[in-house]
Amino acid sequence: QVPNITLNTGAAMPQLGYGVFQVPPDQVVEPVLEALRAGYRSIDTAAVYGNEEGVGRAIAESGVAREDLFVTTKLWNDKQGYDSTLAAFDESLTHLGLDYVDLYLIHWPVPSQDRYVDTWKAMQRLHAEGRAKAIGVSNFQIPHLRRLLDETDVVPAVNQIELHPNLPQEQLRAFHAEHGIATEAWSPLGQGKGLLDDTTLASLADKYGRTPAQIVLRWHLQLGNVTIPKSVTPSRIKQNIEVFDFELSAEDVATITALETGVRVGPDPDTFGG
Ligand code: A2P
Repeated sequence: QVPNITLNTGAAMPQLGYGVFQVPPDQVVEPVLEALRAGYRSIDTAAVYGNEEGVGRAIAESGVAREDLFVTTKLWNDKQGYDSTLAAFDESLTHLGLDYVDLYLIHWPVPSQDRYVDTWKAMQRLHAEGRAKAIGVSNFQIPHLRRLLDETDVVPAVNQIELHPNLPQEQLRAFHAEHGIATEAWSPLGQGKGLLDDTTLASLADKYGRTPAQIVLRWHLQLGNVTIPKSVTPSRIKQNIEVFDFELSAEDVATITALETGVRVGPDPDTFGG
């Protein structure tokens, strides 16, 4: 049901996945099972979410074949550095109960630590070993990406960034396109409240007979973004994947992009983490 994009490794990645940011560890199994039943095949977690074990349990219980799933997790900031990255990756695999992930990301650049280049070299090793089928980054800005391109051998497959109609990230998206890096949007709905009450989105929702969330997700897909909406509400989990049977006009896509305010819902990547 969900189309794939092709990463620069040649691997296929579902364009829409299920994100579990802020889902408490003791409450994550049921929503992940719900998402898998609804047809999601890509699950996005992170070591810092503390819920990798629950995600792994849901995957095991679901009965969905491993090769039909695309699992992403992320390295937390305090584990950056060559050896600590290798150790943190082993821990994540143990928590997930898996022997590989489809995508492993550096969660934040943390420029003040200046360890992301060494960290990336460890990620390259995990990739070469086949335990991380693809490697990428998250929250990297253009100067951070440039350093990886200049100083290391593997171009990140993905940069997962805050991206929604209030923050369309046009410069980063253009940079990614130029270098074959897939753009993945976190908080694609701007964390729900506020953005989803916007009157422009409400009138587009009326026009297409969809919800504002579906209009925003469709905007992401038509921009070519990979996206991972988070919800713990079964009806929303279902609604958020029902976005492949309609299309926004180019004009309406532009109208949504014009909702840019530049306001982030999350931290500033240039200073976050120390
Ligand atoms: P909930 O998890 O209670 O269903 P984002 O992915 O941009 O961070 O947004 C996540 C937030 O948006 C969550 O608070 C989630 O609420 C809410 N949300 C997710 N899907 C929808 C939807 N289809 N309609 C309204 N709110 C939604």
